[in-house]
Amino acid sequence: MKGVVLAGGLGSRLRPLTAVTNKHLLPVYNQPMIYYPIQTLVNAGIEDIMIVTGGNSAGDFLKLLGNGKAFGLKHLNYTYQEGEGGIADALALAEHFAAGQPLCIVLGDNIIEGNIHRAVRAYRHQGGGAKILLKKVTDPQRFGVPEIEGKRVLRIEEKPSAPKSDYAVIGVYMYDAQVFDIVRTLKPSARGELEITDVNNAYIERDEMTWDELDGWWTDAGTFESLLHASNLVAETGANKVEVIDAAKA
Ligand code: G1P
Repeated sequence: MKGVVLAGGLGSRLRPLTAVTNKHLLPVYNQPMIYYPIQTLVNAGIEDIMIVTGGNSAGDFLKLLGNGKAFGLKHLNYTYQEGEGGIADALALAEHFAAGQPLCIVLGDNIIEGNIHRAVRAYRHQGGGAKILLKKVTDPQRFGVPEIEGKRVLRIEEKPSAPKSDYAVIGVYMYDAQVFDIVRTLKPSARGELEITDVNNAYIERDEMTWDELDGWWTDAGTFESLLHASNLVAETGANKVEVIDAAKA
C-alpha cells in the first residue's frame, strides 16, 4: 500500500496567512502542518509516499522535507497540482505513482492524536474497494457527513445544512486502483471542485465501501479557529502517538 498527502490548494480560508506561502507549511504548535499527515502514514507502516503540492511556495516543500529523513524515510515523491481543482483532482495526479496498488490518502491539514494502523490492516484484509474513517463532531455541517445504518454507509453529503448524522468523514481515505477511473467520471461541484465525497459515493453505489470509527482526537486546520484548536490539541496532548500493538491481536 502506498501513501499520498494532498497539500495543494490556495488556503483561501486562511488569508492573509496564505498570501505568500502554502497552508500546509504553516505551524501547528511546534511543527509545520504537513509533518503530521506524513507521520500518520509512517506510523501506519506506509513508507512509499507522494506529496501532491501546488499553489504558492511549492519549492519550499522540497527544502523542508527533502527525502523525508525527519520521518526515517529514504525517499519522498513529489508532484505539482496546477490550479485549484479540488481534492479529487489532486488525487488524480497520483495515478502514475500508484501503479495499480491501493492507496491511503491523507489530507495535508488533517491531524490525528493516535494511529490508523488498525484501519489500514482491516482495509488490506478487505481486498479492494474503499474505506473511510469517521469521527463524531459537534459541527458536522463543516464536513462530509455520512448517513449510516449499522455498518453500512448509505450516502455521504458534503457540508449539509441538515446533517443525517453527527459523524464527519475525516480526511483519511483508502482506495483501490479503480479510484482513478471514478475520478475521470466526476463533474465539478457548485464550488467548482472535483469532490472527494463524489468519489466516496461512487464506491458506496458499488457496495464497496466500509468505515471505521477513529480513536483519539481528530481535527482539520484549514480555518483560523481549527488552526488554533489544532495547535492547542497538539500542545496539550501530542499528535500521532504510536500505540503499542499487542502482537497476539495483530
Ligand atoms: C474536505 C472534504 C470533506 C471532509 C474534510 C475533512 O473538506 O471535502 O468531506 O470532511 O475535508 O477535513 P474541505 O476541507 O475541502 O472543506
